[in-house]
Amino acid sequence: MVHMLTIGGSPSSPSRSAAVLEYARNYLGEHGFQTRSLSVRDLDSEELLCGKFNGPTMQQAKEIVASADGIIIGTPVYKAAYTGVLKAFLDLLPQNAFANKAVLPLATGGTLAHMLAIDYALKPVLANLGAIHILTGVYLLDQHLELTNDQDIWFTSPEAEERLVAGLDALIEVFANTRLRV
Ligand SMILES: Cc1cc2nc3c(=O)[nH]c(=O)nc-3n(C[C@H](O)[C@H](O)[C@H](O)COP(=O)(O)O)c2cc1C
Repeated sequence: MVHMLTIGGSPSSPSRSAAVLEYARNYLGEHGFQTRSLSVRDLDSEELLCGKFNGPTMQQAKEIVASADGIIIGTPVYKAAYTGVLKAFLDLLPQNAFANKAVLPLATGGTLAHMLAIDYALKPVLANLGAIHILTGVYLLDQHLELTNDQDIWFTSPEAEERLVAGLDALIEVFANTRLRV
């Protein structure tokens, strides 16, 4: 069984990017993957802000990351990059925390002007964490994403949903074609 982990970088609730990650987990589950979620909101703020690498919630998070074969990391764009709280979390992970893992980056944002934030901001950090296969990122605009009353995502643009599904299929394909399968 391949283990897929979603890492959510939004401090907000409700959250469009969190709902997109839930969509991703459902899609991967339908394709036979075991899924798990981790959000920056699950972590202790003092551990994050005070750099407590070995705090209890960080210990648990590190174990969850270590047990994943594939990771989907989703963040809102904040100030033309990913969120600061996501960086605070990534900073507390061990140097090679993403080694031997395939990673699909996702971002939601208010403007197309920042669609390259995945490439210039997030991907270098993923590479630094040792990810062996970083897939083409998926950038989704707020205007194409609505939250339902149940906080599920509803795409107002079929094209946006198709791009997300294409990204998820590319991640699935990695496990079909490589020895990453465990
Ligand atoms: C503090 C803050 C900063 C933001 N900065 C940007 C930005 O620089 N570029 C952009 O396209 N959207 C920006 N946005 C909009 C969010 O990226 C967008 O609404 C996103 O979908 C929110 O995701 P969430 O609901 O998962 O938190 C910002 C929103 C907030 C709250």
